Amino acid sequence: MDFYQVIETRRSVRSYKPDPVPEEVLKKVLNAARIAPSGSNRQPWKFIIIKDEERKKKMVELCEGQSFVAEAPVLIVACGRNIHYNRGGWMGDYSMIVDVAIAVDHLTLAARAEGLGTCWIGSFDNEGIKKFLGIPEDVNVVALTPLGYPKNPDVFKPTSDRKELEEIICYEEWKD
Ligand SMILES: Cc1cc2nc3c(=O)[nH]c(=O)nc-3n(C[C@H](O)[C@H](O)[C@H](O)COP(=O)(O)O)c2cc1C
Repeated sequence: MDFYQVIETRRSVRSYKPDPVPEEVLKKVLNAARIAPSGSNRQPWKFIIIKDEERKKKMVELCEGQSFVAEAPVLIVACGRNIHYNRGGWMGDYSMIVDVAIAVDHLTLAARAEGLGTCWIGSFDNEGIKKFLGIPEDVNVVALTPLGYPKNPDVFKPTSDRKELEEIICYEEWKD
């Protein structure tokens, strides 16, 4: 699949078929996250793969009742270790989050290329998930995504729900 077609047709998928994701496809998608860039190549991430139905149900509660989280056969919890980066300035505190976000984006795009749906989940109970999944103190959850085949494959359509390019760029200096 053409790269631009992948990014233009990746959509948030909130309804899934129960069909399993073949293990080799899951590994391909996870590998896309593995090879993502990170500050000083620190790779602060860890991805917890949940397939167990009971566990997924509990995760719905920990994701503010978003029931589709348990509908896909796979739920991925993207975590990051709060390591100290060399990056100075105000970005320092956010470096781990930036790195994990890049890896998750790799993952969602690779999933789309494989015909799989994802949905970035940012509304969740970090402390509750940490306790439930035994995540260490110095690690936080950055995002979750279900992974599975969309119930309606027509969901993979380009969106018009974005600002125009002219609105988001300026040249040489800031302009409103
Ligand atoms: C940081 C972040 C957090 C998000 N959290 C949620 C969420 O908790 N639940 C949800 O259904 N969608 C969530 N989304 C998905 C956005 O609503 C979605 O990406 C946006 O509306 C654009 O739609 P699209 O992904 O189909 O292009 C989140 C997206 C991002 C990037």
